[in-house]
Amino acid sequence: MKDKGGLELDDLGPDPIAAFRTWFDRALKKKAAMPESMALATATPGGVPSNRFVLLKGVDEAGGFTFFTNYESRKAAELAENPHAALAFHWPALERQVRVEGAVTRLAAADNDAYWATRSLASRIAATVSRQSGHAPERAEMIAAYEKLELALIARPAGERELRRPAGWGGYRLWPQAIEFWQGQPHRFHDRFRYERAVHGAWTVARLWP
Ligand SMILES: Cc1cc2nc3c(=O)[nH]c(=O)nc-3n(C[C@H](O)[C@H](O)[C@H](O)COP(=O)(O)O)c2cc1C
Repeated sequence: MKDKGGLELDDLGPDPIAAFRTWFDRALKKKAAMPESMALATATPGGVPSNRFVLLKGVDEAGGFTFFTNYESRKAAELAENPHAALAFHWPALERQVRVEGAVTRLAAADNDAYWATRSLASRIAATVSRQSGHAPERAEMIAAYEKLELALIARPAGERELRRPAGWGGYRLWPQAIEFWQGQPHRFHDRFRYERAVHGAWTVARLWP
């Protein structure tokens, strides 16, 4: 087999958080479709999994992956009982996948408030009236709930249209225990590097067969 050379550990470096930032920036520059969308897998304490996409809102300075959601949703119920999750990013334009696994904690109220304040009024209204993952009435009733709150806000003087963050809405932080980088290669002879955090915090890394 003619091999043009693939991904080497030197390309990623010793710090997988820094490598993730580099890959994510590359996905942004390549205009990958929604590079921040990631599959989030949770599981019940009995090990029954569930999966959905959410948006990465950032990787904080310490290396925590953050996302926002409803604290009364199915994922939140599962995380409350089993605070471990797995993320997966796929950037087809780059033939790249990144998998992240770790323990999950809720963000502090101040962080939730700070992010809430950046959202548009429309999405704050939607988040306020949504009872995510609960059984819903007709769509018309959902729209009516949205419009009722919208009208109530519009009726207020312009300076008093503040909509406080509902207690049931906020973010989570996944603290990576393992991160795997996957680079597609010809003949499905892909490159994989899996980093794992040792007890003392340092990262170990191994190349995996595709
Ligand atoms: C691309 C994409 C991005 C999404 N981003 C979010 C998000 O950031 N937060 C969120 O709560 N739901 C998001 N959703 C909706 C979730 O996939 C899911 O339907 C919802 O969170 C309820 O999931 P649950 O019942 O498992 O808790 C997104 C869906 C898609 C397709």
